[in-house]
Amino acid sequence: MSVPNVEEGVPGVTAPDGGRGDISGVERIVLPTPADVAARAAALFADAAHAAVAARGRFVVALAGGSTPKAAYTLLAGDPSLPWAATHVWFGDERCVGPDDANSNYRMAHEALLAHVPVPEAQVLRMEGERAPDDAAARYDALLAGEAARDVGAPLFDLVLLGVGPDGHTASLFPGSAALDERERWAVAVPAPTTVGPHVPRVTLTFHALARARAVAVLAAGAEKREAVRAALGGGLDAPPAGRVRGQERTVWLLDEAATA
Ligand code: 6PG
Repeated sequence: MSVPNVEEGVPGVTAPDGGRGDISGVERIVLPTPADVAARAAALFADAAHAAVAARGRFVVALAGGSTPKAAYTLLAGDPSLPWAATHVWFGDERCVGPDDANSNYRMAHEALLAHVPVPEAQVLRMEGERAPDDAAARYDALLAGEAARDVGAPLFDLVLLGVGPDGHTASLFPGSAALDERERWAVAVPAPTTVGPHVPRVTLTFHALARARAVAVLAAGAEKREAVRAALGGGLDAPPAGRVRGQERTVWLLDEAATA
């Protein structure tokens, strides 16, 4: 099935935990190039930030790792009009490496965005990849549990940005992982993946946490994502992990044409 080269979707509340096979509430926005995907992602981030601060006085976002979102972060770094002082930055996942490591998702986000905008340091919640995986995960889980207790049942995140791997993983929720079945913890450690690099253990948000997002935006660009996008958006009951994430109010996939041909 090829993804229609149009904006499509039925915005509305969908099953927060991504009922397998139900893609009715998923928006697919197909854009010509990766740069167009980055620009649309930055615009979506900005709209979400302004709306959240207007409504609740704060914007809570979980950033995606990998390489795809970097261009969007760079665009956002050049926008002083955003409510950075009221922004709280979490991470969808982290490689278990130090914050200065070339493979660190935090390092990528810091270099592209966080070093250039006035988000208070206490409002950047880094997954401590330098710790033992289970310890880093337990600490992040406790932070999120504390946030969840602030307003029981309310969404944790206004926006979660995600990528998708060629194997259909998202964050560090890999196909076949026991982490896919986690229903209580907000963050867990997972072993080094064998299907994609870097081959280091990870800390990842769980579906339990991802389901507490008002909006989810998945960014995918390049022909190497084509099969994963097709599987994730095909609506089959065997959708890969990326196909199972839904925002409570909005789920949008930002795709370039190469990822949907
Ligand atoms: C990670 C990411 C991961 C990423 C996908 C896509 O830590 O690697 O969180 O989920 O989003 O693997 O990565 P690219 O954007 O580099 O293709």
